[in-house]
Amino acid sequence: MGQANKKLVLGITGGIAAYKAAELVRLLVKKNIAVQVVMTEAACQFITPVTMQALSGKPVFIGMWDSSISNGMPHIELSRDADAILIAPASADFIAKLVHGRADDLLSTLCLARDCPLLVAPAMNKQMWDNPATQRNIAQLTADGAHILGPDTGEQACGEVGLGRMLEAEELLSAIEAHFTPKLLAGKRVLITAGATLEMIDPVRAITNLSSGKMGYALAQAAINMGAKVTLVSGATALTPPANITNINATNAQAMYQAVMSNISNQDIFISVAAVADYSPSKPSVQKIKKQTATLNIELQPNKDILAEVASLPNAPFCVGFAAETQDLLKHAETKRQAKKLPLLVANLVGESMGQDDATLTLLDNNGAHTLPRACKKVLANEILTHLSRLI
Ligand code: CTP
Repeated sequence: MGQANKKLVLGITGGIAAYKAAELVRLLVKKNIAVQVVMTEAACQFITPVTMQALSGKPVFIGMWDSSISNGMPHIELSRDADAILIAPASADFIAKLVHGRADDLLSTLCLARDCPLLVAPAMNKQMWDNPATQRNIAQLTADGAHILGPDTGEQACGEVGLGRMLEAEELLSAIEAHFTPKLLAGKRVLITAGATLEMIDPVRAITNLSSGKMGYALAQAAINMGAKVTLVSGATALTPPANITNINATNAQAMYQAVMSNISNQDIFISVAAVADYSPSKPSVQKIKKQTATLNIELQPNKDILAEVASLPNAPFCVGFAAETQDLLKHAETKRQAKKLPLLVANLVGESMGQDDATLTLLDNNGAHTLPRACKKVLANEILTHLSRLI
């Protein structure tokens, strides 16, 4: 993925949320992001440099006059080849310092001397956050080009409830990953269907396909990270839609067809991941069907093929299909690709991916088949979109 081998300077300032920085370092290192921790004196009151050194695998810098830096200029040396600086937690005082270009300790000097993006994750009491001075500072910092991450709302260490809580480590990791992802789909509009459809037999029973929605949701997140504007049409899934997307719930094939068709006109890309039921009951019962000893016959009628309909529109977007097969994967998948006239189809064997976090996928396009090594769906989503960005 885009973020592997990136170098991040993590600046920790004085605040209770400093404990979350420890978990963040662990997550960043797991993603192969090299983390150089720099702490303020105040931060050392909340979490020790020893903890941060153990987790990052590198000595932690605090003071301006560190003799272990060969040229004696840590403020230049530490940020020289950094890809970004993240301040987490950023105290109200440190944010004020950044706004005024102060340089009275190593971390603030590093920020002033940097030549890379600055990301700031505020953490403070709600009154401090709401204070006009802080709000002015945040507006100025944003105008100066810094990326503000959060804060979140919720219960605070001081017992109050409100805005000011630092984002959780996982959320900061997602923000960093998004930041480091090349913007291959900048400005593109992408419509994605995900999950299964439920075709009701009666008010409590339905025909469905097995689909967790994980692949479609991973693609939605990856497309956002690449700079796309994403509309997600969600079928039945237990997942929470990613932030910064338009999510439309459509739990049966008919509703999904309508949701797609009424949003397709200005889309650049359509990715049809949903496991749409090919049939639905012709006459769903209004009342719950009672148990009988006789055989129960349910008449099914075919549903519209959403992907095929979109692909045959006069100004069709770039269409991507998915095919789950139980045998003869490449043969069946290529036949499907040709039949639906798709420039790209993602094929997988049912037992190798359905419901799982990992998958083995083969991409079929006009140049042939490309099998992606087994990986988690989040990684695969990036690879599919990177491949797609080369085709459009
Ligand atoms: N699809 C769709 N609408 C349908 C059925 C399928 O948009 N009513 C899309 C799926 O989202 C997927 C692709 O078509 O991208 C392939 O679906 P699949 O069910 O595997 O293909 P079918 O053409 O239905 O073939 P079969 O069920 O015979 O394998």
